[in-house]
Amino acid sequence: MNKEELQALVRDKLKDYPFIVVSNREPYIHSWVGEEIRCLRPASGLTMALDPVMQACGGTWIAHGSGDADPDVVDKDGRISVPTEAPRYTLKRVWLSKKEEAGYYDGFSNQALWPLCHIVYIKPIFRQQDWETYNEVNRRFADAVYAEIGEKGAFVFIQDYHLALLAKMIKERCPNVITAQFWHIPWPNYEAFRICPWQEEILDGLLANDLIGFHTLYHCNNFLETVDRTLECRIEREKHAIVRGGHSTWVQAFPISVDFAEISARSGREEVTKEVDRLRHEYNLRQEFIGIGIDRLDYTKGIVERFKAIDLFLSRNPRYEGRFTFVQAAEPSRTHVDEYKKLNEEIDELVEEINWRRWRSRWKPILYIKEHFTPFTLSALQRLASFCIVSSLHDGMNLVAKEFVSSRADGDGVLILSRFTGAARELTDALPVNPYSVDDIAKAIKAAVIMSKKERRTRMSALRATVQENNIYSWANNIISEIAKFQFPEG
Ligand code: F6P
Repeated sequence: MNKEELQALVRDKLKDYPFIVVSNREPYIHSWVGEEIRCLRPASGLTMALDPVMQACGGTWIAHGSGDADPDVVDKDGRISVPTEAPRYTLKRVWLSKKEEAGYYDGFSNQALWPLCHIVYIKPIFRQQDWETYNEVNRRFADAVYAEIGEKGAFVFIQDYHLALLAKMIKERCPNVITAQFWHIPWPNYEAFRICPWQEEILDGLLANDLIGFHTLYHCNNFLETVDRTLECRIEREKHAIVRGGHSTWVQAFPISVDFAEISARSGREEVTKEVDRLRHEYNLRQEFIGIGIDRLDYTKGIVERFKAIDLFLSRNPRYEGRFTFVQAAEPSRTHVDEYKKLNEEIDELVEEINWRRWRSRWKPILYIKEHFTPFTLSALQRLASFCIVSSLHDGMNLVAKEFVSSRADGDGVLILSRFTGAARELTDALPVNPYSVDDIAKAIKAAVIMSKKERRTRMSALRATVQENNIYSWANNIISEIAKFQFPEG
């Protein structure tokens, strides 16, 4: 499936009904840099994946306006056409106060739901005040949807765990909508989920949707089991549906992906070649083997385990000293949350200690770059790499793995991939690792550097075929085809 086929499908199936996407994170952030306003792309798999879909389908994307220059570039209703250089759809921004952001985003979303759904042994924090703010902010998003569509028929596609109550709130005010929600992170098993004091309210909010999507069948089954054991309802297992109070919600797996064709083509562009040269020169990246990691600075990503594995690999294989550099591109994330501050310090200290112990002359094993990266720089890093490590301790999908594969139009490069990512179920030609085992990652690094060119190319070719086949347009096609099957309540 490609962009044009998706466009045809949207015209055919969604007809003239408005198509609205709602997420917390916005796809374009405007920021002041000195006297100038710059437009940045956030480090978010969700926005990277959905932006090409919206560019193909058109419609309105409602999201939190988080950039300091965001208010300066919108119209009086908070709207702006994006991408600004060649507008394809409308971005409508919702404004939140700092207090709302602290309770809803830093608080309930990222200190309660995020650690609740990612089993990495960080205790969720449930504060009554955060929960109340989360409710209020979900209501603010519902108001924004209502302002867009009123009582008209529309398709509303809600994203992620920040907006678990939204479908119910929308349906109370807009009776004529069909809503689907995609949960971009894992859904834990019942035993883990039931510690949430507001488990019933969250499930009740989600079940207002007509369709709920997860990355894997395993997460769908966890969700069905959680609902079954928490609420009065009927589960129709063969149909993967939950019937409650006369309303049915379909639960299905839709493994998300990336714009394979675009990323593959980008990696061969002149700008990327120039960026490869700049990186080589600026950071003296002339070693025989370059490993890379690209992540938000998040405790679920297994960055500490990865660095310890690099250290172990070098202890066991000293002949690679000076011949190997690992480049870690890390984008600061959720910087007001204590666990993220702690992680930041822990990683800084670990990198400093490993590099101090091992450096010689101009060489050090880990090049740790902590900043915001443009898509061109990321493509350049991916092109430079002999291998890429994705060592998430738990991850719904992990799109870095799919981006790395898409960017290797040269057919080379090795992907080392955590077994605990959704991507590992599809990308079976990667080198699988248990990210909790530093020894396992160290062995995979060794396997990557000694792998023959023939084996690298065979594996990469199979990986590329998988991502090319299940690309972001196929993902959108599968979801849109499902939502188009629902009847509007008054139709
Ligand atoms: O995919 C999970 C997710 O939390 C998205 O919802 C989000 O956009 C992305 O990771 C990055 O996180 P954040 O939006 O908090 O920066």
